[in-house]
Amino acid sequence: MREETRAVRFTVNGESREAEVPVRMLLSDCLRHELGLTGTRVGCEHGVCGSCTIHLDGAAHRSCLLLAVQADGHEITTIEGVAGDGLHPVQQAFVDCGALQCGFCTPGFVMSALEFLRQNTAPTRAEVVESLASNLCRCTGYQHIVDAVAEAAVRMSGADAGA
Ligand code: FES
Ligand code: FES
Repeated sequence: MREETRAVRFTVNGESREAEVPVRMLLSDCLRHELGLTGTRVGCEHGVCGSCTIHLDGAAHRSCLLLAVQADGHEITTIEGVAGDGLHPVQQAFVDCGALQCGFCTPGFVMSALEFLRQNTAPTRAEVVESLASNLCRCTGYQHIVDAVAEAAVRMSGADAGA
């Protein structure tokens, strides 16, 4: 039996995009396979690792827990839409602090950090650590990632995030 499909349209990284997708297709798969936005990674595919984090209408979501049809009509930002003319300060801080470790978890960490730093412009290190608890690193560790988010907070606000 042929799988039912539906046309979806959303704004992705500022551009209107359309696709005809199976009604049960995950948003993460739609972004990667239908729209070619492979910067969104897929790890666990059940909402645990955070690798697939994107922003939907400005809020961080796990795209493996959403169906593509649920995003119909909404605004999506993926890691490909974060940089402007140059890297975003969060991305630059990841570079400068050695937080680009395996590249697999990084997009999700950056997307989570962006939302966190919008809500808390002068976080303590403990708050940074807590904010990253929703994203898993399977290999080297979290210290450089925490350093990067704390550094980004300082660069973006001028506040001291090391308190
Ligand atoms: Fe979505 Fe792990 S792939 S949370
Ligand atoms: Fe990416 Fe560990 S899983 S650095």
